[in-house]
Amino acid sequence: MKLITVKDYDAMSEAAAEIIMRQIDSKPNSVIGFSTGSTPTGTYKQLTAFCAQGRVSFKNVVPFNLDEYVGLAPDDPNSYVYYMKENLFDHIDIDPANTHIPNGAAEDLEAECRRYDALLERYGSIDLQLVGIGQNGHIGFNEPSDTFSDKTQIAKLSENTRAVNAAHFRSADAMPQFAITMGVGDIMRAKRIILMVNGAHKAQILDKVMHGEITPQVPASILQRHDDVTVIATQDAFI
Ligand code: F6R
Repeated sequence: MKLITVKDYDAMSEAAAEIIMRQIDSKPNSVIGFSTGSTPTGTYKQLTAFCAQGRVSFKNVVPFNLDEYVGLAPDDPNSYVYYMKENLFDHIDIDPANTHIPNGAAEDLEAECRRYDALLERYGSIDLQLVGIGQNGHIGFNEPSDTFSDKTQIAKLSENTRAVNAAHFRSADAMPQFAITMGVGDIMRAKRIILMVNGAHKAQILDKVMHGEITPQVPASILQRHDDVTVIATQDAFI
């Protein structure tokens, strides 16, 4: 794993945005795996600024998001469709027809998982995948478990994840119990992976992810096996 240590959140966001911009520069129709949550919002702001300055165009970029909550319609303010529009897609020159996010409101969720994987396969592999980590080591919504998942699936959210993410919902009860997530295998098949980590509250888990045993109990630890991972972490994210 290549490590870039930065002083703070803004520097992390800028470093990640620069890498994404260079990726699009070298391949304008790049397939980019996007993540959500609090970690990448600064990166999306920076990409929005780069786009406004004419330094990057998303016209031919194909985004594939990692995950979506089950049961939330796309116009729900807590859905990741809403998040992506609000934080990035509505502010850049992207073609909405090129954007892909699992449909958490699909009637047949299993069929939705298969549809998403078929779409991913049609595009070949993801050129650049952005990921964050949960405090329990999840990537996407692949929670600690006995095996590493492979393809897109329905994941039961752990108590830890529900407790952390409930802050964004009007009440803990409104927080979904399930999500659709790309599998660990899908993530590992990306050509290049950028892991962004911000803050002291992620220090214990980052240490396990980078230096601990590779185990599905710490799903992100599998990134140690990928040959092109760049970790961009703030200096307080180390023990
Ligand atoms: C979000 C996702 C999650 C988050 C992780 C960190 O699409 O897949 O794995 O990356 O939960 O979330 P934040 O950035 O809010 O700490």
